[in-house]
Amino acid sequence: MSTALTFLELTPPSRTVRVEFDGQPLDLPLGANLAAALMVAGVHTLRKTPVSGAPRGAFCMMGACFDCLVDIDGVTRQACMQQVTEGLVIRRTKTAGQNDAS
Ligand code: FES
Repeated sequence: MSTALTFLELTPPSRTVRVEFDGQPLDLPLGANLAAALMVAGVHTLRKTPVSGAPRGAFCMMGACFDCLVDIDGVTRQACMQQVTEGLVIRRTKTAGQNDAS
């Protein structure tokens, strides 16, 4: 059983826009849920836990778990509560003790 593509678009997006995720350009569907669009694009780790460094990705998709925290244009936000808009600059959140190599 293949698990390579966990999330698929049922219909192709009518319009995509360019965003940046950790310095890499991504074309995501305009107006889509940001966390879902990132998962479809293959981004599953959005942050790491401060104690063990365990990877975390979107879980509840309704703003309750905070596992989807990312920095969007310099502000820490829940990706599942945001829509894709053109030019977003998204970075994995850094917590105390983490650096770019973590
Ligand atoms: S996925 Fe749980 S708050 Fe975003």
